[in-house]
Amino acid sequence: MSTLNLSESPKFTIRGFKKGDEASLQKYADNQKVSVNLRNSFPYPFTLEHAASWIEMNTKSYQKPTNMAITLNNEVIGSIGITLQTDIFKKSAELGYWLGEPFWNQGITTKAVREMIKYVFDNFKLVRIYAGVFEYNIASMKVLEKAGFHKEAVHRNAMFKKGKVFDEHLFVIFKSNGGSITSL
Ligand SMILES: CC(C)(COP(=O)(O)OP(=O)(O)OC[C@H]1O[C@@H](n2cnc3c(N)ncnc32)[C@H](O)[C@@H]1OP(=O)(O)O)[C@@H](O)C(=O)NCCC(=O)NCCS
Repeated sequence: MSTLNLSESPKFTIRGFKKGDEASLQKYADNQKVSVNLRNSFPYPFTLEHAASWIEMNTKSYQKPTNMAITLNNEVIGSIGITLQTDIFKKSAELGYWLGEPFWNQGITTKAVREMIKYVFDNFKLVRIYAGVFEYNIASMKVLEKAGFHKEAVHRNAMFKKGKVFDEHLFVIFKSNGGSITSL
């Protein structure tokens, strides 16, 4: 199980999920202000059963975790993860994250994204990490820009949430490999 210390703020970490995280995961995930910015696969209400199945799914493998808990004093207060892509897109991953509302606007997610990017490029053979953001989610766009991403594209009318269509703002960061990508 990985544990990374967020360098500037040691009480915050990102680490793999573990049994016992269910209650705090449910407490902070169960928030419409969180779910409105995420895919519909992130449920609202977010029940203890949802938390248990998320933790089960993310603890059953001995491989390097792709979904990490953001913790404060070992309590889960959010989550950050990647979805590895396949086939011709296998050198890319999609990044997603959320943080419990009481902890917003303290720079925590920006630190978590920076640490996650380092962890991902160090541990997976990827060249590209991207994140798609709803056009109304300015806080998330700021997080990505502060963590070194740049806006690559705006996909018009690409997202559909709660009965409305929105543009997707696509942010990207590349691994600087300084050499041929065929060696990856
Ligand atoms: C988006 C989210 C992860 C941000 O987390 P956070 O820990 O508060 O982010 P940070 O504190 O690192 O940075 C937020 C930045 O956005 C700014 N911000 C917040 N709300 C804003 C708003 N409505 N308009 C403009 N800027 C805003 C903050 O001031 C801060 O910028 P600054 O450092 O220049 O002052 C958090 O709000 C969240 O979990 N939202 C719900 C889920 C979500 O949106 N996930 C991302 C999906 S792409």
